[in-house]
Amino acid sequence: MVAQRTRDVEISGIRKMFEGAPPNAINLGLGEPDFDPPKVVLDALCHAVRTGKNHYGPSAGRTDLRAKVAELYRDRDESTSVENVIITAGGSEALMSIALSLYDPGDEVLVPDPGFVLYAPHARLAGATPVPYDLAESRGFCPDLDALEALVTPRTKAIVVNSPSNPTGGVFDSALVDRLVAFADAHDLYLLSDEVYDGLVYRGRFASFWGRSDRVVVANSFSKRLAMTGWRLGFLVAPRNLAVDINKIHYHVTACPSTPAQIAALAGLEAGPSIVQPMVQEFHARRRLVVRELNRIPGLTCVPPAGAFYAFPRFDWPGTSTEVAHALLGRGLITTPGDAFGHLGASHLRLSFAASRDALQRGLSILRTYAREVAG
Ligand SMILES: Cc1ncc(COP(=O)(O)O)c(C=O)c1O
Repeated sequence: MVAQRTRDVEISGIRKMFEGAPPNAINLGLGEPDFDPPKVVLDALCHAVRTGKNHYGPSAGRTDLRAKVAELYRDRDESTSVENVIITAGGSEALMSIALSLYDPGDEVLVPDPGFVLYAPHARLAGATPVPYDLAESRGFCPDLDALEALVTPRTKAIVVNSPSNPTGGVFDSALVDRLVAFADAHDLYLLSDEVYDGLVYRGRFASFWGRSDRVVVANSFSKRLAMTGWRLGFLVAPRNLAVDINKIHYHVTACPSTPAQIAALAGLEAGPSIVQPMVQEFHARRRLVVRELNRIPGLTCVPPAGAFYAFPRFDWPGTSTEVAHALLGRGLITTPGDAFGHLGASHLRLSFAASRDALQRGLSILRTYAREVAG
């Protein structure tokens, strides 16, 4: 029989909907840009594979890419250097390697609810216990510090935060970031900050956790910023000693990250943020369209997301979010049920507006029809 952890761990609710969908279903379920990577990135990848850059590289990643990432993080902490950065096989692997490096069996880890689908299973796979903390819609999907205090026990080891958030679209301002860092410091907790949507903020300003405490570890990714989800490249930024430890686990998880993808990502970073400006502007426009149309559908209420590229509307239709998502799947629309993200996600659906306008229009039309059917 397979190991207990294998029996216990579940496929994520996002993947279940995606992999169970009929071939022509409209996909607003997966969170990935419908854009191709920018031309400079595509060209760099092609050039790399044609000129023999097809071999293993250093476990922690190529020094040139690590140095470029460190340079970008120096606006948060001017001492950030190559030794703080590890290039990973996507943000997913960064999160996994950090979890396996930090959590012991018996530890408790504070995870957001609703929150991204990897945090709790990663804690469990490391033998720890995830302890959800609430991100209530009524608080703009921000945590309540008093409620967090009440969850701390002598076994609490870490807190996971995610701003801009998948699935809520919530963004923490700099004052809240400072309060969360002070909370982690006061209780001697590691603070794992997932910042993969740092380039996608529509309201307010992005505030990074990096540079505010030596307990902070950041997971990040090239997937969304350079529209290269399928190339599997991300990175983490950690205090130097911790980075040495995490690199040991990272080596055992993935040996080393993809060499040509790193060369391409470096070309993307060197070209600067303007190369993804058309994509970011398009997400602004789609966000406005989707929020406006969702709020016109009877039974749906959608708080405009401040960041990332998800709408997270609440429904007052009959059934659980899994039942509603399955009913929509039967009508050809893939969404993600809110309960895949925790108990506060019940009565919500998550829809990605990184999908094409055509997919969004057709998806909205299926939702309108469903709302009419439910109203009877
Ligand atoms: C909040 C968050 N973190 C991490 C990831 C992992 O991204 P990747 O492994 O593609 O870099 C995702 C992907 O959807 C995400 O939404």
